[in-house]
Amino acid sequence: MVRAAVLLLGLVVSCRAEFAPPTVNISLDEDPQVRWMPLLKVFDVDYLKKAAADVIDTTVPKWVHQAVTPIVTSLEKYVPQPYAGEIRGMASQMGGSVADVIILNFAYEISAFCTSIVAQDTKGHVYHGRNLDYPHPVLRNLTIDVVFLKNGKVAYRGTSFAGYVGLWTGQSPNKFTVSGDQRGSEHWWNWWKNLVSAVLYRRSPVSWLVRETLEEAEDFQDAVMRLSKIPIITGVYYIVGGVKAGEGVVITRDRPGPADIWPLDPVNGGWYRVETNFDHWLPPPTRDHRREAANIALNATGQDHINVETLYQVLSLFPVCNGITVYTTIMSAATPEKYSTLVRPQGCGPF
Ligand SMILES: *[C@@H]1O[C@H](CO)[C@@H](O)[C@H](O)[C@H]1NC(C)=O
Ligand SMILES: *[C@@H]1O[C@H](CO)[C@@H](O)[C@H](O)[C@H]1NC(C)=O
Ligand SMILES: *[C@@H]1O[C@H](CO)[C@@H](O)[C@H](O)[C@H]1NC(C)=O
Repeated sequence: MVRAAVLLLGLVVSCRAEFAPPTVNISLDEDPQVRWMPLLKVFDVDYLKKAAADVIDTTVPKWVHQAVTPIVTSLEKYVPQPYAGEIRGMASQMGGSVADVIILNFAYEISAFCTSIVAQDTKGHVYHGRNLDYPHPVLRNLTIDVVFLKNGKVAYRGTSFAGYVGLWTGQSPNKFTVSGDQRGSEHWWNWWKNLVSAVLYRRSPVSWLVRETLEEAEDFQDAVMRLSKIPIITGVYYIVGGVKAGEGVVITRDRPGPADIWPLDPVNGGWYRVETNFDHWLPPPTRDHRREAANIALNATGQDHINVETLYQVLSLFPVCNGITVYTTIMSAATPEKYSTLVRPQGCGPF
């Protein structure tokens, strides 16, 4: 009895032990090859190497890995800047091969399941939250908040994984916030097609377009334009939040351009939008209850009670947060200092 109680208590405590990931400052004024060096202040090189090998081993079968290494190596010269320099720099700092760091960047690219929510309260404040789900537990230990600095000032920030140069989650302060959710079910054996498409046809990986948009877009509207129109290597959902009432949208992307644009419509009751990994105008698969659970929880919260805390609570409910949830980020572009990420060491579950 006592042991059972202790066990139960241990479980409850460990389930709740969310933690903030390390923050690294990356200076865009530094040469791409050295700008990720600050990673080594927060991660042990041997651990990073082991974790990277782990992700590659479970994502890419060994024979494929061997077969594609020379191909990937020959494609390296086509990878655009600054990514080429950043990837080369990380490979040399970690003592790994450039091909493996490229494979790692494209292996992540196809498997990011997620839930994103953009919502507006009754005063017109816009909140944006996201869960990133990925079926590899080691990513919880690789999660980082990255602050990109230009001339010593914060240019933009995001949440990523050590070794990864793109962003799935980010904020341009006082302008907009953005998150990406995978669309459709890409299979691992397509990642190399994405790589070829990226380097030879000069299409952007979806996470690179997020980073470029954070770096270059003037405001919410400009960000929505770029994220809607610039060709990318695979379909995706981009969720964007702004700084003013009505500035919130879910963009459903095909490779060449937008398939659908679904803005907030607060006047007609549309004060929030929930996007998981399925087109919003279609019912999700019957086994996937994330969208419905989030809708119910948001309706129960109500527009007059939505804020950074209640949005975090919605994103903590099972199955919105589930066994493979890696982290939750809450952000609001008008109050950039509130950007906050928590890693879910055990995911969430009914257990
Ligand atoms: C990161 O940069 C910010 C803004 O310049 C600064 O306040 C902070 O101390 C830096 N943190 C680290 C770990 O260097
Ligand atoms: C993550 O780090 C913790 C603490 O260092 C460790 O106990 C755990 O095994 C690591 N998880 C993975 C999947 O590497
Ligand atoms: C949430 O509320 C809206 C507006 O009242 C309603 O149309 C929708 O069906 C509700 N969703 C759920 C899952 O209860």
